[in-house]
Amino acid sequence: MADPLFDIQGKVALVTGGTSGIGQMTARGLVRRGVKTYITGRDATGADSVAKSLAAEEKGECIGLAADLSGADGPQRLAGMLSAKEQRLHILVNNAGAGETASLPEVSIEDWDMVMNVNLRAPFFLVQQLLPLLKKAASAADPARVINIGSIGGLHIPNWDAFPYGASKAGVHHLTRALTKRLGASQIAVNAIAPGPFPSRLTDTSSDAVKHSVETYIPLGRPGAPEDIEGLVVFLSSRAGAYVNGCTIPLDGGYIAAL
Ligand SMILES: NC(=O)c1ccc[n+]([C@@H]2O[C@H](COP(=O)([O-])OP(=O)(O)OC[C@H]3O[C@@H](n4cnc5c(N)ncnc54)[C@H](OP(=O)(O)O)[C@@H]3O)[C@@H](O)[C@H]2O)c1
Repeated sequence: MADPLFDIQGKVALVTGGTSGIGQMTARGLVRRGVKTYITGRDATGADSVAKSLAAEEKGECIGLAADLSGADGPQRLAGMLSAKEQRLHILVNNAGAGETASLPEVSIEDWDMVMNVNLRAPFFLVQQLLPLLKKAASAADPARVINIGSIGGLHIPNWDAFPYGASKAGVHHLTRALTKRLGASQIAVNAIAPGPFPSRLTDTSSDAVKHSVETYIPLGRPGAPEDIEGLVVFLSSRAGAYVNGCTIPLDGGYIAAL
């Protein structure tokens, strides 16, 4: 029997960018625990195929939606699709993200805008557009949750160049606090998770550079694993995490603490 403190069965969640990497790890953990989970990717067929696999493997409900969150109308369109299917949204995981590593002279306006729009603009406007659904799911005993996926790249300056990426993630952490102040009265708790390196399309944890950095700088000496992100998201989404609000939680094996 599920421990009531961590029980999230019956909730409805939206995980943007749930087709890959950290988003897929998160979605899997939610589906496994009986959360009706919507995932998004830019391509309808891809999102549908990942959703069907997760639903079959975890014996739960997972639905794929297509959403390009780099465009100005992306968040509104996605919120419209979800609102047509659901009355309430208990958990919004703003995870979809894009990165770049151009050097200072090489960053283009297009790179800058794309990274900022996907990583920072979309989470804000998704919260704005999904507020009615979040409010309907919220109560004093069990607030609705917004979980923004930031990055340790927004907490420190890495040895490689990632100007718009780092700025967008620092923005996500700041936005998390600003939303916390505004949404508490509606019983919506907002937190950010700042992951260190996790295996994904964005981060090749088997590359020599990442391996070296993990061994040198991460006290626990390993990259993140699916259970690490799954555990923190389940904690934040459950009764156990209901009083955690306004935090940016590094999920990095001690990297930021030991800098
Ligand atoms: N992995 C790490 O080491 C690490 C560390 C710190 C923070 N993060 C953060 O974790 C989040 C997930 O990244 P990841 O590492 O798991 O990367 P990933 O494997 O590349 O996954 C990125 C996800 O975002 C979606 N996405 C990309 N561009 C999009 C767009 N324009 N519109 C809508 N969706 C878009 C992708 O969907 P489709 O490709 O299917 O369209 C995919 O589902 C990001 O916010 C990232 O910054 C990752």
